Amino acid sequence: MKHSCSCKTKALAPATVLSNEKLGPRIFRITLQLKGLGAKAFAAFKPGQFAQFEVRDLALPAKYAIPADLKDKSRKNNILRRPFSFYNVEVVEDSVILRALYLVLGAGTLRLSTTTAGDEISLVGPLGNGFSVPKNKKLALILAGGMGAPPLQHLGTFLAEKHPEIRVAAFAGARSKADLPFNLVKTHAETELSFCLEEFARHNIESHVATDDGSVGYKGFVTDLLQHWLTKNSIDPAQTIIYTCGPDPMLASVARLAASLNVDCQVSTERVMGCGFGVCQSCAIECYKPGTQEKIYKLCCTDGPVFDSREVAWK
Ligand SMILES: Cc1cc2nc3c(=O)[nH]c(=O)nc-3n(C[C@H](O)[C@H](O)[C@H](O)COP(=O)(O)OP(=O)(O)OC[C@H]3O[C@@H](n4cnc5c(N)ncnc54)[C@H](O)[C@@H]3O)c2cc1C
Ligand code: FES
Repeated sequence: MKHSCSCKTKALAPATVLSNEKLGPRIFRITLQLKGLGAKAFAAFKPGQFAQFEVRDLALPAKYAIPADLKDKSRKNNILRRPFSFYNVEVVEDSVILRALYLVLGAGTLRLSTTTAGDEISLVGPLGNGFSVPKNKKLALILAGGMGAPPLQHLGTFLAEKHPEIRVAAFAGARSKADLPFNLVKTHAETELSFCLEEFARHNIESHVATDDGSVGYKGFVTDLLQHWLTKNSIDPAQTIIYTCGPDPMLASVARLAASLNVDCQVSTERVMGCGFGVCQSCAIECYKPGTQEKIYKLCCTDGPVFDSREVAWK
């Protein structure tokens, strides 16, 4: 379908696939180009915002190429658009280049994985609120869990470029080395476990890795790694902020840690989304009414996906 329209800040626009590479068994990196009204809208894209991708007209992989555990899911509804963040958004002359990482999980991402250079994908965005940078912060601690990495990589670059007054330290966790959506760089030749992340190192941001199985970096949860780091680094809670994105149990655990440290914390949440702009109510997230223990529902797509960690009623 050919379309191109925009309101003040959002656009419904066709993006051209520049490349779509397989990085691991199920992780892909896709690069898209927007021109015209789409470029105009996405030029203002903030770290933590997202776009809805139309997947219904994209082809499924050949039957033999669909992993056995995804065969049933591959038949699922693909009418609804699928939400994705970007790890890099770059304005190049009159176009905007969007770079995303995605994990193949079901019908939509299987279809996305078959796209090649020159294909067109309809996008709606930028959607959601994105991260904010409160005044007077001097230290940002970034905690990425699994595929929560892209928006935080984008945020790291943004802080390095626009907020040089803020020291940034990044922590990435995953189940094992193969699930880490980052390039690892060895920091100390003498110890096999000392790695940092190339994507942060290129902006002089210190970074640390944790895996549940210890296949690379610290063996344990990324929150334990941060606590370990805190034993060696003193922080001023009022001047520190934690940013995090990952699975809900990890976000809840980071929220508890931030509360115990009395440090501000912004969590980027994920919910299954229908529309992406506040109409279908499918992405409700249980929150507290400000200053009370009364529970209310907010929408991940329009009130979020980024929330103050104190706002969310963690399960
Ligand atoms: C704001 C936002 C940003 C996101 N950014 C990225 C990203 O940068 N990279 C990436 O790989 N994924 C990202 N996701 C998750 C991505 O949207 C889902 O993985 C995708 O929609 C799955 O579609 P599918 O048709 O392949 O799988 P489905 O068959 O729809 O689902 C497969 C499995 O994934 C779960 N799932 C589906 N949608 C979501 C969702 N929105 N959040 C969490 N779990 C979901 C389902 O419950 C099911 O277990 C993001 C989600 C949100 C809400
Ligand atoms: S996805 Fe439709 S209201 Fe949030």
